[in-house]
Amino acid sequence: MGELTGKRIVLGVTGGVAAYKAAELVRALVREQAAVEVVLTATGARFVSAATFQALSGNPVWLDLWDDRASGGMAHIELGRRADAIVVAPASADFLAKLACGLADDLLSTLCLARPAGRVLMVAPAMNREMWDNPATRRNAARLREDGVALLGPADGEQACGETGPGRMAEPGELIEALIATFQPRRLAGRRLLITAGPTFEPIDPVRGLTNLSSGRMGYALARAAAEAGAAVTLVSGPVSLATPGGVERVDVLTALQMREAVLSRLADIDLFIAVAAVCDFRAAEPSVAKVKKEGASLSLPLARNPDILAEVAARPDAPFCVGFAAETERLEEQAEAKRRAKGLPLLVGNLVQEGMGGENSRLVLFDDGGMHPIAPGSKREIARRLIGEIAARLPGGAHG
Ligand SMILES: Cc1cc2nc3c(=O)[nH]c(=O)nc-3n(C[C@H](O)[C@H](O)[C@H](O)COP(=O)(O)O)c2cc1C
Repeated sequence: MGELTGKRIVLGVTGGVAAYKAAELVRALVREQAAVEVVLTATGARFVSAATFQALSGNPVWLDLWDDRASGGMAHIELGRRADAIVVAPASADFLAKLACGLADDLLSTLCLARPAGRVLMVAPAMNREMWDNPATRRNAARLREDGVALLGPADGEQACGETGPGRMAEPGELIEALIATFQPRRLAGRRLLITAGPTFEPIDPVRGLTNLSSGRMGYALARAAAEAGAAVTLVSGPVSLATPGGVERVDVLTALQMREAVLSRLADIDLFIAVAAVCDFRAAEPSVAKVKKEGASLSLPLARNPDILAEVAARPDAPFCVGFAAETERLEEQAEAKRRAKGLPLLVGNLVQEGMGGENSRLVLFDDGGMHPIAPGSKREIARRLIGEIAARLPGGAHG
């Protein structure tokens, strides 16, 4: 099932070169099973024609304030009322100015002004960097944020005009993720989460090392689900090839010692610490500065024990609410509960590695003072949302939202 099944989205497209990206956005929205109605400004229609949006959305496109196809003859009222969210991408400098001033001289600006209170309005500015840096545009953007409009981007980079700087429209994938997030319950609103994910890599020499098969997917899915739930999320990540979830601050580390340092230096004001990373238990006691040669190398590798980051955090007098993960290959119940008690954790998530590590699906069981609670199976994303709900309900002060 798509992440936006049953949602009606009005997509406004204004006059900018990035209008071509709006076509990709419509496809991505339809892929998530949203019902999309496109509203084009007159200038927007000069960049990409209505026929393209009609074909991609499967719905007629709206262009004119005086269009009488709406049942009450008032498209500017009806379109906003029946939408679950309004997205304007790209939003021109001109459109931001209109929106900030409450102008209503075409269909798109009028329907934004007439939208019901609380209706999500997300805009993705796209323009030349000088236009974006102009104090008037900055003022308009700041005013829109104050008014509760969600501004996404613009990103920094190469621009269609040949210049480089801030002004590129946020990518369609990023906009979709942000939109999906707006429909999730805000159970962690106001909470600060520190989470670790991925494996660690312990060098033996400059080209070799000890590591494990953790893909980082579960930790990243949890970081995303927590951000969707409204938490401020810092993700301390071992080496993985995954994109950083939107709105998450990511800190990259390689070794267990670096991960420990990154965690301990970021604990101030943290409400919740989730340790998902598969931290290597051992490291090479004396990594070689130069590549170890095949000939003449000793065939034994002296190891040193790595610190237990979670146990160290959980033992602090000012410890945040700590959640651990235990990946076991056998006797999960016994080993996970023993681990939870040894580390003094209120909650531990156990999984059998045959069923999850490095893979897309995971079977998880929660262990707390009340016993053992299996989590219904699903994709990592679904499981992550369920898990965040379970964690939020156990936090001191309870779930928000
Ligand atoms: C070739 C061309 C490219 C343009 N690109 C942009 C752009 O990327 N961003 C922007 O804010 N304005 C851009 N403009 C200016 C807008 O099209 C102009 O301000 C227009 O009035 C916007 O109308 P609208 O906000 O009703 O769609 C461009 C104009 C032209 C002729």
